[in-house]
Amino acid sequence: MRRLVARALARPLVLAAAATAIPLASAAPASADSIVVGGFPVEVSDSPWTVALSSRDRFGGTRAGQFCGGVAVGRTTVLTAAHCLGEDVLGSPPERVRDLSVIAGRTDLVSDQGREIPVRDVWVNPAHDDVSNAGDFAVLTLSEALPAGSAIGMAAEGDPAYRPDTRALVYGWGDTSGAGDYANSLRAARVRVLSDASCERAYPGSDDGRYLAGSMLCAGEEAGGRDSCQGDSGGPLVAQGRLVGLVSWGSGCGRPGSPGVYTRVSAVLRTLGWDHQAARQSGGA
Ligand code: ARG
Repeated sequence: MRRLVARALARPLVLAAAATAIPLASAAPASADSIVVGGFPVEVSDSPWTVALSSRDRFGGTRAGQFCGGVAVGRTTVLTAAHCLGEDVLGSPPERVRDLSVIAGRTDLVSDQGREIPVRDVWVNPAHDDVSNAGDFAVLTLSEALPAGSAIGMAAEGDPAYRPDTRALVYGWGDTSGAGDYANSLRAARVRVLSDASCERAYPGSDDGRYLAGSMLCAGEEAGGRDSCQGDSGGPLVAQGRLVGLVSWGSGCGRPGSPGVYTRVSAVLRTLGWDHQAARQSGGA
């Protein structure tokens, strides 16, 4: 089941046949204007660190090859989800995907706004565990620098942005309904950071994954409705102007009692040994 979740973002493009076989139990509940489920359109100029991961070779050209999100944390450094670069998504190891690139500054994928920058180097967290989904992050190095001001500061451990109930925004070009309606234009959804206790209650361990507070964060709304979804993976969850999470997994999209689960950025910083740098950055923010 969770393999299907990871794979689902490729559905409309490379797994069209499988799509009908995937139970649509994951279809968004109720909420008529379901985004990123339950979201609203945004301009990428308001969140220039939000980027799209693309390979036309693997995902076709209709939506510029978009298959996941990413977030610029430096002018040549992009964080994304490890599972976005897995073989079950790409069909081969990432280094074989010749046209892997990052699209920056483009709100509408079906436009030639912004830039497409080839990825020069891919580092996938070797500790990523695809049973629990722990450690779901990867670092991309770009072959050219993004414009100044494109990077977002990361929230280090202990940052108040991680407190339960903090309002956050998640951004992406993913499924807006849970039924395979991929957005052409960037959207965002308002969610709240939830307590570890409620995240553990929601995900004590199933085929979808298991909530582990040390490396994950969950966010949503009590009533469901607003959430990230397939195709948003790797993209940013931002609270108080700082990056707190990367879209990682969830059970369906926007279901009450099944919040979105995000890679905890403070754990990424610790793993990469970047904690000091981040503390300085967010101190200045
Ligand atoms: N795994 C999905 C992706 O690859 C992200 C799912 C997020 N799900 C959620 N309910 N927030 O795009």
